[in-house]
Amino acid sequence: AYEETLALIKPDAVKAGHTGKIIEAVIAAPFTICAIKKTMLNRAMAERFYAVHREKPFFDDLVQFMSSGPIYAMVLGGESALLRWRELMGATNFEEAAEGTLRKRFATSLGRNAVHGSDSLENACTEIAIFFSRQEVLPCDIPS
Ligand code: CMP
Repeated sequence: AYEETLALIKPDAVKAGHTGKIIEAVIAAPFTICAIKKTMLNRAMAERFYAVHREKPFFDDLVQFMSSGPIYAMVLGGESALLRWRELMGATNFEEAAEGTLRKRFATSLGRNAVHGSDSLENACTEIAIFFSRQEVLPCDIPS
């Protein structure tokens, strides 16, 4: 089925200059980029985005890192977009990520893992709403 998922290019990958290569991989996959923006999370926004991890030992590091520099937020659309984006990202732990995946190519540690993807359609909905209004999300590249 057609799905939409939230993808982030994290501060480590933006800082290292990998944005273009990641967007190329997104387009080649292919996904429809339904929305895209460069933005920066402040602490409060990062805490809200990662609210499900509030009790984790790495929560403070995660919030600090994710608010440390500019990121790109994208809504990716397409057939089975949620799982396909997770496959393109590779495993959360880059040491376990498959050859050719974005995390294999660009991650440098467990936390600094270059990209984010929603883990369920329900979370995708919540996460997309954190970054984009309804009218900013255009599922088709060519208007009919
Ligand atoms: P992501 O899937 O975007 O959302 C949760 C993030 O927590 C995950 O990416 C990792 O980058 C990060 N994370 C998970 N485990 C650890 C850890 N042990 N130390 C630091 N960050 C972690």
